[in-house]
Amino acid sequence: MANLKLVDAFTDFVEESTLPYRQMMTYYNCALMEVETKFKVLNEQFSLFYDRNPIESIHTRIKSQSSILKKLQKKNLALTIPNIENNLFDIAGVRVVCSFTEDIYSLANSFLSQDDVRLIEKKDYIQNPKENGYRSLHLIVEIPIFLSDEKKWVKVEVQFRTIAMDFWASLEHKIRYKKNLSKERLDEIDKELLECAKICKTLDEKMEEIKTAFKKRGFLCGYKPLLPARVSRRCFHFVQAIAFDSR
Ligand code: GTP
Ligand code: MG
Repeated sequence: MANLKLVDAFTDFVEESTLPYRQMMTYYNCALMEVETKFKVLNEQFSLFYDRNPIESIHTRIKSQSSILKKLQKKNLALTIPNIENNLFDIAGVRVVCSFTEDIYSLANSFLSQDDVRLIEKKDYIQNPKENGYRSLHLIVEIPIFLSDEKKWVKVEVQFRTIAMDFWASLEHKIRYKKNLSKERLDEIDKELLECAKICKTLDEKMEEIKTAFKKRGFLCGYKPLLPARVSRRCFHFVQAIAFDSR
């Protein structure tokens, strides 16, 4: 019943302000495309210079209408477009899943050093995991999107995880929303999940150690460039020139 009321309220709201709402969602979608492209470009550049891709996968999502409504209610805010834009910073979300923990920090630093990316908030749950074991690096950033007659700054939440962090968080999310479990069983599950989080952390540390050992021996899996950066860049421009000439 309560849910039906929520849906009705939302439908009324959307009908009254369909265009501004669609416009706002389009801006968030554009911002997602911009941020995804930025990471794809960084992945290409790493791949060119270091012969490996630091990004395993990139997922983007726009927060659903019902989640927007629930979050506004939780914050005791009326359903208005300025309230959404000024108080909900995770309408547009990007999740970047990396191979190694070191990749997370390298990518985040490269991303944040771009002059059109403004950092609004940073939460490092890798250095300071949550009590339940959750690990991830969260950034809230603002980036510009260029429209036909204006430049608009849009907020995006970026979550960086390793495969192990993502594996744990995905399963924990599914289990957390399982209903019909007793309080005792839930407490037991929390303990088991915390244990699993520790195992995932150890796994990430082991993998990092293996990578470092390979890097030291001069194998090509770390940040050791295949060729010195200057030579690589020359090769790149040479290949580019040939490609353009032959068009
Ligand atoms: P909310 O955005 O309302 O959740 O509050 P917040 O901004 O303080 O949250 P935070 O930045 O800590 O986390 C935001 C997002 O990170 C969530 O929407 C989830 O996607 C993810 N997250 C945070 N904590 C957990 C957790 O314990 N488990 C899982 N699976 N995901 C989490
Ligand atoms: Mg949040």
